[in-house]
Amino acid sequence: KLSNLIDQHGRRKRKLRISLTDRCNFRCRYCMPEHPQWLPKAQVLTIEEIAQLARVMVLDGITHIRLTGGEPLLRRGLLECVAALDALRPLGLQRISMTSNASLLAPQAQALKAAGLDDLNISLDSVEPATFRHMTGRELAPVIDGIEAAQAAGLPIKLNAVLLREDNGEQIVPLVEWSRARGLPLRFIEYMPLDAPGRWQREQVVSEAEILDALRERFAVEALPRSHDPATRYRLDGGYEIGVISTVSNPFCASCDRLRITATGELYTCLFAERGLPLRERLRAGVTDEDLLDAIRDAVWHKDRGYAARQGPVERPLTMHAIGG
Ligand code: GTP
Ligand code: 5AD
Ligand code: SF4
Repeated sequence: KLSNLIDQHGRRKRKLRISLTDRCNFRCRYCMPEHPQWLPKAQVLTIEEIAQLARVMVLDGITHIRLTGGEPLLRRGLLECVAALDALRPLGLQRISMTSNASLLAPQAQALKAAGLDDLNISLDSVEPATFRHMTGRELAPVIDGIEAAQAAGLPIKLNAVLLREDNGEQIVPLVEWSRARGLPLRFIEYMPLDAPGRWQREQVVSEAEILDALRERFAVEALPRSHDPATRYRLDGGYEIGVISTVSNPFCASCDRLRITATGELYTCLFAERGLPLRERLRAGVTDEDLLDAIRDAVWHKDRGYAARQGPVERPLTMHAIGG
């Protein structure tokens, strides 16, 4: 079935990212302001509201849903949410994923799998405890526990490492060695200008070209054909594969198939959009599925080209933790 969620540049939307909360128990420097102001609960969508939005968007062509945060494991009702999404499979939903810091995952991994979660992306910026602590403000050990628990529960994992030159610029090879030894796919992510206003600096971005240079010093690196994934893929030493998400040096906007819902129920058609379409009050006023879809389709149609068309620092109050990456 074709997605009806199509923009003026011909890009059909298949993937929806839903932020379940702006709260996080970590303090990654590239993601959050130093003193985050959490949203009042009343402004955050309820699980029922999330389920209604997800249902109409699945009916209109969304096949993949990713739960994000903040940290989604902090969200009360997370299991109910996964179960509500699981019930949408007959309508066309194919995958339910989550992006997490994994520090709270160990006790919840099995229940999430049982509720219908298909897979997880886990942030891991360093395998060196001091560097990890410096970047996230928290300890590494619970994250490793979470990764192991997810593996034991049979949840496929991809690891994400955001690189900041001064902080973990030297962690490229250690991260590869660690992930390869555990058979875990790893993706390096270029630092994007979506942290606290005024903090991002181009000098801190480790570009895809630099990542490849660092890898070539240690491995044979072979480029693989691009798939429908934000990451460019490479094969190392003829075996283990890694990815690079190079939004800053080589954005994938031309094939972008994503939409986002923030914790407060705003539809963002692009990670870098200046503003979103507020849907919460319509949901609370009992909007019909039809009117909801009309508003969503209209916003999606007007999606602009994306970061590829702008480049450079993005100054806006909505930081990463409030939109879910
Ligand atoms: P897959 O669907 O498994 O490819 O996951 P993903 O890479 O989309 O999701 P994840 O939450 O793991 O995000 C990894 C990195 O990609 C984060 O830094 C995200 O901010 C970034 N990312 C995800 N979607 C987009 C997007 O639409 N545009 C840009 N520029 N970056 C994105
Ligand atoms: N640039 C790139 N990636 C970021 N993330 C958070 N902030 C940034 C940023 N400024 C990543 C996290 C997580 C994902 C949801 O987004 O590391 O893996
Ligand atoms: Fe929390 Fe993820 Fe942001 Fe880190 S990147 S502060 S773990 S939401």
